[in-house]
Amino acid sequence: MTKPVLLITRRVPAAVEARATRDYDARLNSEDVPRSGADIVRLAQGAAAILCCPAEQVDAGTIAKLPDSVRVIATFSVGYDHVAVEAAAARGIVVCNTPGVLSVATAETAMLLVLAAARRAGEGERLVRSGNWQGWAPTQLMGTQVSGRRLGIFGMGRIGREVARMARAFGMQVHYRDQGRLPADLEQGAIFHDTDDSFLSACEVLSLHAPSGASTRRWLNADRIALLPKGAIVVNAARGTLVDDAALIAALRSGQVGYAYLDVYDGEPKLNPGYLELENVVLLPHLGSATLETRNAMGFLALDAIDAVLAGRTPPNVVS
Ligand code: DGY
Repeated sequence: MTKPVLLITRRVPAAVEARATRDYDARLNSEDVPRSGADIVRLAQGAAAILCCPAEQVDAGTIAKLPDSVRVIATFSVGYDHVAVEAAAARGIVVCNTPGVLSVATAETAMLLVLAAARRAGEGERLVRSGNWQGWAPTQLMGTQVSGRRLGIFGMGRIGREVARMARAFGMQVHYRDQGRLPADLEQGAIFHDTDDSFLSACEVLSLHAPSGASTRRWLNADRIALLPKGAIVVNAARGTLVDDAALIAALRSGQVGYAYLDVYDGEPKLNPGYLELENVVLLPHLGSATLETRNAMGFLALDAIDAVLAGRTPPNVVS
């Protein structure tokens, strides 16, 4: 029997490629070349399914040009802001994502940023590499312990709640801001704020976990930054679009924000060059979910969704 064609836009873990090749006529990207919308349209000819990635813009123009054979687009990510979901729905193409399986890995990345910022790991690492380190000194690169500090989580979804769980283990007091208050079993003692003012003034450390979209675009702007306690730590392992980069850079220069440790950028892989000039910044290359076990789980979940759609079933992780 002829296998359906599955386009996989980037290299994915070997176990995921093996399953895809077993079950589909899989078009792989062994060279891991970044794909444009035009590439995706060209490579999707005759495909029933596309497994795409957050590094690609599968916009309305791209979706309009996809062949009629495409029935499902599964993105290798929980975020789906890079896929024009409404345009896909208009063409009857189902869009799926990979929720849940990456929450722990992404929360660990957020905690890595929190701890590294609090202990000035970026400056310390640069000092050692520079060859200028003169040895231990009582006042060298003093940071702050996170235990006893207030952590504010903007966006208390699966990842935000996982960060809260980890932060509690470090003795942090967790505050959160979301569209509404969570039930007690999900809140787990975290303190809900129904205004930005009360939330931000509590945030000695602010960790962003809201999805990208019109309502969160540049949410962390100059006005909101001004509400943070002076010297606050900001970490972002969600989406770069949540931050007004110019405002954050100005606050890092003035000291209103003490440290910004970031994993994601508006327009990545490009980023505002102002960040590169600052010592109180650490910049990771969108490592949030980058563990082998997580990337395997994401790939398998995406394949489960593709299998289901092509078999005429509705998978639980449909976003359209
Ligand atoms: C996601 O799943 O949206 C992540 O950003 C990818 O690591």
